[in-house]
Amino acid sequence: MTTPVMELVDVHVVHKTRTGGLFRPGTVRAVDGVSFSISRGETVGIVGESGSGKTTMARVLVGLQPATSGQVLFKGEPLRYNAAARRKLGRAVSVVFQDPATALNPRMVVREQLLDPLNVHNVGEPNQREERVRELLRLVGLPMSALDVMPRQISGGQRQRVAIARALALEPDVIIADEPTSALDVSVRAQVLNLLADLKEALGLGMVFISHDISTVRHVSDRIAVMNRGRIVESAPAGQLFANPADEYTRTLLGAVPSLLRPKES
Ligand SMILES: Nc1ncnc2c1ncn2[C@@H]1O[C@H](COP(=O)(O)OP(=O)(O)OP(=O)(O)O)[C@@H](O)[C@H]1O
Ligand SMILES: [Mg+2]
Repeated sequence: MTTPVMELVDVHVVHKTRTGGLFRPGTVRAVDGVSFSISRGETVGIVGESGSGKTTMARVLVGLQPATSGQVLFKGEPLRYNAAARRKLGRAVSVVFQDPATALNPRMVVREQLLDPLNVHNVGEPNQREERVRELLRLVGLPMSALDVMPRQISGGQRQRVAIARALALEPDVIIADEPTSALDVSVRAQVLNLLADLKEALGLGMVFISHDISTVRHVSDRIAVMNRGRIVESAPAGQLFANPADEYTRTLLGAVPSLLRPKES
């Protein structure tokens, strides 16, 4: 068996909150004993309602949030949080957020947005970088005319494609996508979802696909983990989870799916 790219073992994250007194700060157990792994070539969906800890867990997976306790392993070794280790992790694990605007610099044209990670990590010669930028645009299905536009000049769906291209720039092993379609217009959600699924297939990536909506992750995930109050309450192959949910909370989530999207029961 290959070593997972990222592995969490009994990870807890406790956030301090603004409520609570000076001497007894309030705390939230955002992630409460999660074990999880992601390898190249597999797609894992993480679902759960708002506040269940999905984003906090994603931040741990990309090294933005240290665990309060438990182990965070990067390619089998405990993750360190110094600059060199972060750089290495940043190349191997990249992230696509809900709102592409947060991932893009509003004052940079698309070409510069995509060159930026290549420059920062000193990848190849300048002309190879330019070629890589064009290749990235092709990968995400954008025309070459997009090279010279600002993020605000293109649609939300196209902006998310640019953010995805940027996430792919350094040939990561894994992409963590945190609600990547929920800020987009309904009409383009399926396109962006399919793009991520196609890229995962074509590039052999690992993908963690986070959503509050179980029907969104269903068709793109090999395995689905259900989160509730900071814990993974059930994790199973996607088909099995839908056909035969073991956990009460999973059944509640499935019940909340609009009937239009549920498979026919006859
Ligand atoms: N920086 C922080 N400081 C304090 N509390 C936080 C912080 N970040 C998250 N929390 C709390 O941790 C819990 C988990 O939040 P998190 O954002 O991980 O959930 P989520 O599943 O991503 O929710 P959503 O679906 O709304 O994005 C929530 O109770 C949240 O209020
Ligand atoms: Mg979130």
